[in-house]
Amino acid sequence: MTTKTSRIPGLHKLSPQERLQKVAEAAGLGDGVLSHLGNTGNLEAATADSMIENVIGTLNIPLGIATNMVIDGEEVLIPMATEESSVVAAVCNAARQCRSTGGFTTAMSGSLMIAQVQLVGVSNPEFARLQILEHKADIQAICDETDPVLVKHGGGFRDIEVRILEGRTGPMVVTHLVVDTRDAMGANAVNSMAEAVAPRIAEWTGGRTYLRILSNLADRRLARARATWSLEDIGGAEVRDGILAAFDFADIDPYRAATHNKGVMNGVSAVVLATGNDTRAVEAGAHAYAARSGQYGSLTQWEIDADGNLTGSIEMPLAVGLIGGATRSHPTARIALDILGVETADRLAGIIAAVGLAQNFAALKALATTGIQKGHMALHAKNIAVMVGAVGDEIDKVAQELVAKGKVRMDVAEDILKSLRG
Ligand code: MEV
Repeated sequence: MTTKTSRIPGLHKLSPQERLQKVAEAAGLGDGVLSHLGNTGNLEAATADSMIENVIGTLNIPLGIATNMVIDGEEVLIPMATEESSVVAAVCNAARQCRSTGGFTTAMSGSLMIAQVQLVGVSNPEFARLQILEHKADIQAICDETDPVLVKHGGGFRDIEVRILEGRTGPMVVTHLVVDTRDAMGANAVNSMAEAVAPRIAEWTGGRTYLRILSNLADRRLARARATWSLEDIGGAEVRDGILAAFDFADIDPYRAATHNKGVMNGVSAVVLATGNDTRAVEAGAHAYAARSGQYGSLTQWEIDADGNLTGSIEMPLAVGLIGGATRSHPTARIALDILGVETADRLAGIIAAVGLAQNFAALKALATTGIQKGHMALHAKNIAVMVGAVGDEIDKVAQELVAKGKVRMDVAEDILKSLRG
C-alpha cells in the first residue's frame, strides 16, 4: 500500500514518461491507465512538454466541423473543439437558415490591446498623471524598442491613457499603453512593454509601480458580426417573436444573461480552442464587456427589420492571434487555421464572432420552440451508451433505444446493453 502524497520533489526535472511513472506510483494507477496516458495521440509528448509544466499526458477533445457558414461572402468550414454535444450541429443549423440572405457580415474595431501599469504612493495623482502624459514620446520609444518585430509588421505603440482610481489603500495612477498587436494575440508583447515602461514611470513621478500586465477587457479589439434570418427560413413570425422574447429576457436579467452568453461562448470558445488561442482571455473579455453598463447583459442583439425578418448582431472583445503560443506549436491548431483559410487575426476574430451569433440563434430558436432537450438527447444518449460500456454498433443501438423510450439514463442504458448482449 502506497502512502498518498502530493510532494514529489524534482517532478519538473523528469521526462513526461518518468513523471507518469512517479504519478502512477503516487496515485496508485494501474497498467491500463499508464498505457492510456502514455499514448499522447497527435500531440507528441515532447511538444506537450514544451507547452506547459509537469506534463504526464494529453487530453483529447473532439474536433468537429461546422458546415454551411457563409462569412463576408465566402464559404467557410469551421473547426470546433468541444466536449459538448449539439454545439457543432447548432452552428450548422443556424448557418443553413441564413444562407438565403447572404450569411454573416463581419468587421473589427481594430487590433489594439491595452497593457496597464499601476502606480501608487503619489500624494499628487493629478500632477503625476500629467507627468506621465508629457512623456508620451519616451513611452512610445520604449514600447517600440521592446518589440521591433511587431513594429516591422505594422504594429507597435499607438497611444497612452492615464486614469486616476481611488483605491482603499489610496489613489493609484493607472497608465494604459495602447498597442497594435496585428496578427498576434499580443499578451507577451504588451506585457514586455509594460514591464519596460514601469520603472521610468516610477522615476518620473517619484511613485512606486506594482502591476504591469495586459487587460483582458480588450475593448479596442471588438469583433462584430451580423446576419438576417428570413421569416420563411426560420418557420414564421411566432418563432421570430419567441427569439425576441428570449433576448429581451437575457437583456433584463443577469441570471438569464449568464446562460444566454454561455451559449454564445459554446461557439466562440470551441473555435478559440481549436485554433490554439487562449479561451480564458476571450471568456474574461466577453463577460467583462457584457457587464460594461454596470448590469451584466447580452452579448448579442436581436431585432426585426423593415420586412419583418429577424436580424441578429454581436459585438465582443476577441483577442485572438495567428502567431505565437499554441497557435503555432500545436499541430492540430495549425491545421484548424488551414481549414479556416484565415490570413489575418482580424478575419479569425470576425469568424469567431459569427459563430457566437450562430450559436446564440440556434439556442434561442430551440428554447423558444421545441425546447433544448429534444436535440440534445440524441447525442447525449450516445454519451450515456459509451459511459455504460457500449462499443462499436452497440453505441447507436443503445442510444436509439434510450431516445425511443424517452429515458436517457445510465440505469436504463445498462439494462438495454445487457439485453443486447443476451
Ligand atoms: C447550453 O450549453 C447552452 C444553452 O443553455 C444556451 C442558452 O440557454 O441560450 C442552451
